[in-house]
This record gives sequence, C-alpha cells and structure tokens, in this order.
Amino acid sequence: MKIGEKDYRSIWHDERDPGSIHVIDQRKLPFSFEVMTLRSCDEVCDAISTMAVRGAPLIGAVAAWGVVLSFLERSGESDVHASVMNDAFKIKSTRPTAVNLAWAVDFMTEVLKNYPDADIMRRAAEGLCDDEAERSRRIGVNGLPLIEEISRKKEGGVVNILTHCNAGWLACVDYGTALAPVYMAHDRGINVHVWVDETRPRNQGSRLTAWELSNHGVPCTLITDNAGGHLMQNGMVDIVIVGCDRATASGDVANKTGTYLKALAARDNGIPFYSAFPVSTFDMAIDRPDQIIIEERDGDEVRKIDGINIAPDNIPVSNYGFDVTPARLITAIITDRGICRADKESILTLLS
Ligand code: MRU
Repeated sequence: MKIGEKDYRSIWHDERDPGSIHVIDQRKLPFSFEVMTLRSCDEVCDAISTMAVRGAPLIGAVAAWGVVLSFLERSGESDVHASVMNDAFKIKSTRPTAVNLAWAVDFMTEVLKNYPDADIMRRAAEGLCDDEAERSRRIGVNGLPLIEEISRKKEGGVVNILTHCNAGWLACVDYGTALAPVYMAHDRGINVHVWVDETRPRNQGSRLTAWELSNHGVPCTLITDNAGGHLMQNGMVDIVIVGCDRATASGDVANKTGTYLKALAARDNGIPFYSAFPVSTFDMAIDRPDQIIIEERDGDEVRKIDGINIAPDNIPVSNYGFDVTPARLITAIITDRGICRADKESILTLLS
C-alpha cells in the first residue's frame, strides 16, 4: 500500500543486509513514521510483545523471520536445532490469542527440520510473507461483491462500513483483511465511507486505521467505541466488517475486545456482520469459544493514555485484549478461499 508516493509492505527484507528485517514501528503512528530494524530473535520477541508490530497476520510474518534470525544467531552452537526450537517456543509465547503466530513458527520449524540452511530458511520466510499478502488480496477480491451489491441497491449512494480495531495493511503484510475489500471497492470507484471505532485502550482505530485509510484517500470518520449502536439504530451503517485473531472450527471469532458488542448491535438492527481473515486463522483443533485463550494485558493501558493518568492511581483494572463473537451473530466469513457461513459444515467444505 502507498504512503505518499511510495509503496510499502508492513515487513520487508533487504538482501544487502541478510541478517535483519525491517518493520514499521506502529507505536509511533500516526505522529511519526519510523522504521525498526530487527536483528535478533530477542528483538523480534520484544517487537511483538510491546506491540511495535501487531495484527494477527503480521505477527505471524514477523515470528517466521524470528526463527530465521535465531538460526543465524545460533549457527556456531553445538546443537543449533535445539537452540532454535527453544527460541521458537519463546516467540510463540509472546502473545497468546492470534493463532497465526504459532502457525507461522510451526511452519518455519518444519523447514528447519528438513532444510537447516540459512538461504532456504530466508526464502521460506519471504515466501510466507508473499503468500500472506496474496491471501489478503484474495480476501479483497472475495469481499468486494458484498460492497458492490450494497452500492447497487443504494444506486451508487455511499456504502457505510463500520470496522473495529485495525485489520488493514498495517496488521497484515499488505492489503489487510477486513479492509482489503474496502480498499478494492474504493479503487474501483465505489462510493465507500468507513466508521472507524477508536478501539480503546490502545487506539488501533484512531491511530492506525484512520491513518492508513486517509493515506489511501478512503473517506472515513472516527467514532468512539460506544457510538456504533447509535449509528446502526439510525440507518447510518450498511455493513460491519471486522478481522479475526483466531476462529474456532464452528465459526466463532476472537477479535479485538468490543467486537462482540458490535455484532450484538448489528444483529438487533438487521445489519450484516462479516469477519474477514485468511484460512490460516482457523484453529480447527477447537470448536468452542471458551477454548480460545484471551490475552489479558497490563492495567496501565486502561489507566493511562500515552503515559497520562485518566483514572485514580492503582485502581484495579481488567484488560482483556479480545472477545469472542459467537458464530450465530456472524452473517458470513470472508476468506482468501471464498465466503462461507459461520458453521462447521460450511467451514469444512471451504477448507476441503
Ligand atoms: O492486539 P492487536 O492490535 O494485535 O489486535 C489486532 C486485532 O484484533 C485485529 O483486528 C486483528 O488482528 C484482525 S486481522 C488483521
């Protein structure tokens, strides 16, 4: 995607500096655009756990490179395989909810097992990033007709889309998941407008989604997290599209906390609610919402904004990073392989 005139991905590798990867420090956006160079497995773990990089597909891509960097660092050691496996475990432990993280690390440790070679591992990580970008592009292609259909019904009038958190290109390698169909519709001249939830406590909506949409010229309006219900009641939302960090085999979807409340309001107002994600986000080993581990984060994210207290010191805080929207509230799931209903049978058919 473009920043100004320049094309960017959210992660890239420079062949002239083969022991590193480059990412955008998302903690600094939208106030400053800073590129971070990660040179070790520890730096990768730190970037993921401090949320310099975040978003399910992107943390998977960064984690894959973490395994490569670990292999390069450990190359002089007597049991390289065991040391890298130990690092792989550390990378997997950085964040618990997004399944793409574990999926990408497992993919890379398989490569390590079969081809313990730096060039092959680098190429595998590059391939994983390219595949991730292509999966996002396919999500855009598959979701586009939903927006086109609403636009047709409204005879070219504005299609109002509500989204939560950031599931755009910053959260993926390119294009995005929830935002991929939105960018595609906008690029084809469809009149779209996005309601952007600010997404407390870390404000991925106001800091990241608003930034990337406006950089691309997509009309959008920032709203407080609690405003969505009012907009839906007043006919100001045509469709809700959100991302996903882990989906069960039954079609329940874990996404940034607050997503569930949007789904409830959408159902009450007869508004279609979609979750968009690559099929790698399905965790087919589980089929109940309570099997998804929900990350609990530091209370200071809620007590403070940018270091400034907005609550009494030391007030007890509960800070669940995600919630689960049950399948029954989801109109359909938009994936890189097509659209399917949020139920086990449809998901199994899609995956087969
Ligand atoms: O805690 P984050 O910012 O990593 O959470 C991200 C989200 O919940 C996104 O909506 C998500 O990863 C969906 S897919 C891009």
